[in-house]
Amino acid sequence: MQPSSYHLENTWSPEGGKHGRLTLTLFNFSDAPLENFRLAYTTLTRLVDPQACDNAVFVRRNANFHEFAPPAGLSIAPGGSWTFTVSALHRIARHCTDGAKSAYVTLEDGTHVTVFTSDLLLADRVSEPPPVLLPGGRLELPYAIQPWPAEIDAKPGEDFPVALYPAEGSDAASIKALAAAQALFRRLFPSNHIPFSLIAAPQGRALRFVERPALAREAYELSFSGDEIVLAFSAEAGRLYGLTTLAQLLDGARREPGKFRFPVSGVIADRPRYGWRGCHLDVSRQFTPKDDVLRLLDILAWLKLNIFHWHLTDDEAWRLEIRAYSQLTTTGVLRGPDEPLLPQLGNAAEPVGGFYSQDDVREIVAHAMALGIEVIPEIDVPGHSTATLVALPDLTDGQEAPDSYHSVQGFPNNALNPAIELTYEFLAKVFDEMVELFPSEYIHIGGDEVANGSWLASPLARKLMEQEGISGTFALQSYFLKRIKAMLTARGRKLAGWNEVAHGGGVDPEGTLLMAWEKPEVGIDLAREGYEVVMTPGQAYYLDMVQADAWQEPGASWAGTVPPAHTYAYEAEGDFPDELKHLMKGVQACIWQENFISRDYFNRLVFPRLPAIAEAAWTPKAQKDWLRFAAIVPLNPKL
Ligand code: ACM
Repeated sequence: MQPSSYHLENTWSPEGGKHGRLTLTLFNFSDAPLENFRLAYTTLTRLVDPQACDNAVFVRRNANFHEFAPPAGLSIAPGGSWTFTVSALHRIARHCTDGAKSAYVTLEDGTHVTVFTSDLLLADRVSEPPPVLLPGGRLELPYAIQPWPAEIDAKPGEDFPVALYPAEGSDAASIKALAAAQALFRRLFPSNHIPFSLIAAPQGRALRFVERPALAREAYELSFSGDEIVLAFSAEAGRLYGLTTLAQLLDGARREPGKFRFPVSGVIADRPRYGWRGCHLDVSRQFTPKDDVLRLLDILAWLKLNIFHWHLTDDEAWRLEIRAYSQLTTTGVLRGPDEPLLPQLGNAAEPVGGFYSQDDVREIVAHAMALGIEVIPEIDVPGHSTATLVALPDLTDGQEAPDSYHSVQGFPNNALNPAIELTYEFLAKVFDEMVELFPSEYIHIGGDEVANGSWLASPLARKLMEQEGISGTFALQSYFLKRIKAMLTARGRKLAGWNEVAHGGGVDPEGTLLMAWEKPEVGIDLAREGYEVVMTPGQAYYLDMVQADAWQEPGASWAGTVPPAHTYAYEAEGDFPDELKHLMKGVQACIWQENFISRDYFNRLVFPRLPAIAEAAWTPKAQKDWLRFAAIVPLNPKL
């Protein structure tokens, strides 16, 4: 990367205005004076009052995008700087990542130049450094299995086999499964010695595959002895999980022989605690290239997770190719200084886009399926739809006052309008293409964070409410979602959504699964209403949340501070009454990517909390052990 000619420093002080004050200083390291320019930056710590800036002129704001001009006549000499303040913010800053995430200047001739942006520094207070989040850990049994199995009674050996190979007479399907496990391992750990061989290996150990119909689909049993290992299973999933456990055991023993061993005798009898063991990925705020999605799926498989919830659309971009509406992945993905969608969340002078073609989707779905993972696609409606509405302006009510409501993220008028028939025609075509691409039982339709007050300034929506005898945003949302549910039912699919789907009357709970994200108690309320529930509370399972209170720890904090130890210990079933527990289907990690502007950032926030959720999803409560987890988790692959 070229050194940048301009640098932006920013500090936050708790004093000086509503929710404190940001002070921004732009340095000019170019050879020419900087004048007649504008500065744009993106930040989650938004300005709420355009008047409340000093030594700058507010130009415009859209969600996290802010643009300012210097005072008339200002010229920044080479080596000089310009400082201004913004002092009415929509929330306080708590961490070094709450400041400008990106910036650019627009020069007099209209060209845009990216500005280097630094961490947000804390003024007038002690800036705490990040604490150590993961202890060294402690092992009672020297095995590198994660998630930890339900039952283990095995004696550690003094050494370990060079590789495991199929016992004579193994069936073709099992040999093929072994080959797939080899390939998964090689993708995850390109330089580690492979744990499996398809041919008998000197100093290896034979692996005998035994079908045992009494075992559950995802269960398996491993019996160890000096001459062979028996893997019992009833279905492909159990066979795959048994092989994964063997690969982990052998890889751990080889990598850290002083710490981990391979069993010489005894039994591992294993099965998951929950049927729904999910990981969500938001690819709208930041685009995750196909190869990274494939690798994430490999990591999920290694952790015995079985659901990939793919959040494909949001205000910031629509990422799924829909043949009937090519605008969605042209106009609806490109964010840039001169595009209809402005830079957000770490974007600067260069326009950024990215979407998944239908061929990409087929490849990803097939890859997941081979790893025992179901892909649940999400199209987030009716809220979170800025990108859709920018791409397809016919979906708006032309008579609706602009800026008549704002989402919690600051987007104006961002919800699909339930009173426009074209909305349903559009979604019908989208669903038609989705059911061809995704074999999943569920289609997730979002349903979250529709701002109270949405549509009330739309004459078409007002008319519909009158006709239907309903009033208010959430009653209208319920009307919309009932129609959406009928459309999915007609296509043989069940509806999944976020917990707000239940607002305003909700939808028929039969065949509906909702994700409780706002707080844990919501999950119990939903179950009481008859909905099936997956627990994804932000306070434990949102992996974008900061991991410590310290200022220098990166992350978002609106749902609180979520240390890995808390994510691990959190019991999603917690206060569920016994009679409702059958409706609690499992747990899910959520990777919201607003802040995820580099791979390094992704890995720092997602690990070790993703493996922590995987263990909470798989391992019986009585077997959970944070220190054992901490001792094993450094072996895990990252993106
Ligand atoms: C959500 O976090 N809006 C589901």
